[in-house]
Amino acid sequence: MRVLVTGGAGYIGSHTSLALLEAGHDVIVADNLSRGSARALDRVAELAGRKPAFARADVRDRVAMHRLLAEERPEAVVHFAGLKAVGESVRDPLGYWDNNVLGSVNLVGAMQEAGVHTLVFSSSATVYGELSPPPFREEFPMAPTNPYGETKATVERMLASVAATRPGWRIAVLRYFNPVGAHASGRLGEDPNATSANLMPAICRAASGGDALAIHGDDYPTPDGTALRDYLHVADLAEGHVRALQAVRDFREPATTINLGRGVGQSVREVIHAFEQASGVRVPANVAPRRAGDVAVLVADPARAQALLGWKARRSLEEMCRDAWQWHQRNPNGYA
Ligand SMILES: NC(=O)c1ccc[n+]([C@@H]2O[C@H](COP(=O)([O-])OP(=O)(O)OC[C@H]3O[C@@H](n4cnc5c(N)ncnc54)[C@H](O)[C@@H]3O)[C@@H](O)[C@H]2O)c1
Repeated sequence: MRVLVTGGAGYIGSHTSLALLEAGHDVIVADNLSRGSARALDRVAELAGRKPAFARADVRDRVAMHRLLAEERPEAVVHFAGLKAVGESVRDPLGYWDNNVLGSVNLVGAMQEAGVHTLVFSSSATVYGELSPPPFREEFPMAPTNPYGETKATVERMLASVAATRPGWRIAVLRYFNPVGAHASGRLGEDPNATSANLMPAICRAASGGDALAIHGDDYPTPDGTALRDYLHVADLAEGHVRALQAVRDFREPATTINLGRGVGQSVREVIHAFEQASGVRVPANVAPRRAGDVAVLVADPARAQALLGWKARRSLEEMCRDAWQWHQRNPNGYA
């Protein structure tokens, strides 16, 4: 298959581009490099033994997206491009609506015009909120608690209405839980200075002598008071996308939502402990106030992914920590 990967120069997009190339697909990356790095794509080429094509393009630019689709003629699109930090979205909601919603509307419009109707979309467990008790099943109502989650829920609704009313669309909406870790080679990983405020890069920074880790809240209604998340290795997540692209055309419904998680909730303190075991390095940490928009527990029910994709996350928390630490030690400044 020829696959257009938006946001392919970013963390999950680079790992997925590699997995797609390794599975024999051709990859065209479209990224505006606002957050990702072209060097990640050089590393993807080095690991895969062949290059993904690259276009520096913004998904909000409908003319550019239409031209790219018309020229490259992909059979499917995997849409990662967007902003992803809950805290940043609370400070800059408009930036999130612009990038995530407008970007997706334009991309889907350009796909419709170009006759490309197969899409895998990056959604997030953040859409669940706290309305229903975990583990979260896909049919639970969406109730996001922050602007980032609102933008993802809005795009999901837009995709559902397009698929329901326009013929030919095949859409897989993948709701990721908490992707962490890095490629086992130590060559691909998450930008350690990203604004995402994700836990694992912050642990790595603290372990390597940076600021002590801030544990945001230890008064949640969880066994040790810190928030529970469903961590999964980014390489497992990348494989989930390859499966989704292969399966999406055979789904019964034109649009199908699928959780990608392990179904295991682990607390911030458990992750710190696992990291210290895997790395042999102590992580200095302090308790800080809760962050706006955070919820106590986000854990997937992963049964649908197993049933529809034959996919199950295989890698352990120890592997996630080991690979994240190796990446961080070898690339303390990311791709810079
Ligand atoms: N990492 C997570 O914890 C997580 C969890 C759930 C969902 N997601 C979603 O997965 C997707 C990828 O996340 P990631 O962790 O790889 O983030 P990332 O920031 O590493 O990658 C996003 C990429 O998209 C590009 N981009 C952003 N806006 C763009 C635009 N308007 N046009 C073109 N390119 C643009 C960036 O330059 C970057 O390369 C995002 O949509 C994110 O919301 C991520």
